[in-house]
Amino acid sequence: MTTPARRDRLVELYNEARDCHQCPLASTRTKVVFGAGNADADLMFVGEAPGAEEDRQGLPFVGRAGQLLNQLLGEIGLAREDVFINNVLMCRPPGNRDPQPSEIESCSPYLQQRIALIQPKVVATLGNFATKLITGSPTGIMKAHGTTQVHVLGGRAVYVMPLIHPAAALRTRSLVETLREDFAKLPELLATPSPQEVEDARAADEPVMAMAAAADERDQLDLFG
Ligand code: URA
Repeated sequence: MTTPARRDRLVELYNEARDCHQCPLASTRTKVVFGAGNADADLMFVGEAPGAEEDRQGLPFVGRAGQLLNQLLGEIGLAREDVFINNVLMCRPPGNRDPQPSEIESCSPYLQQRIALIQPKVVATLGNFATKLITGSPTGIMKAHGTTQVHVLGGRAVYVMPLIHPAAALRTRSLVETLREDFAKLPELLATPSPQEVEDARAADEPVMAMAAAADERDQLDLFG
């Protein structure tokens, strides 16, 4: 899909999402927080849910956790404009309570569509809710963080990097360093061929390899025959 076509589809999805009433959070939100950033991003962040400031502005990670995210992005040479940032939930749970399973279920088709449209190479999940949803595993973030996984998301194999949520790092300051160390793994991952590219190359090579093996066998027959 071309960049303009991808942007148009995202705008269409955003217009649909703005009026979403799939779950009761529609009645308490101020604004739907669809996600923001580069429609062609190789790196996508998935957080938990909008907080008070995000709900007011309609943009993801614009509060204190967002400031830390911006700082850590800058330290690896990236800006918000280079990445796409979104959340498991598009609407703020009242009082910042945990997302409910039914809310996650209602909202995840939107996340899946954003991933399918943007086709990131790396999905960095922030915190437990995003990590468990994206990896499909109950393993918690304190165990999973910093280790790359591969998952099929939006129909393509992508790298998944679980990260500690910046809000958790702000609450427990020693975790900022852990988060920074895990962030430092992202540039290398972004520079590595994506799992989908590796898979596509393997699939394309297979007949070639088979032909090479057959030729090899012929050569050996010649040699010994
Ligand atoms: N925390 C999140 O998980 N998402 C936001 O957008 C802001 C804070």
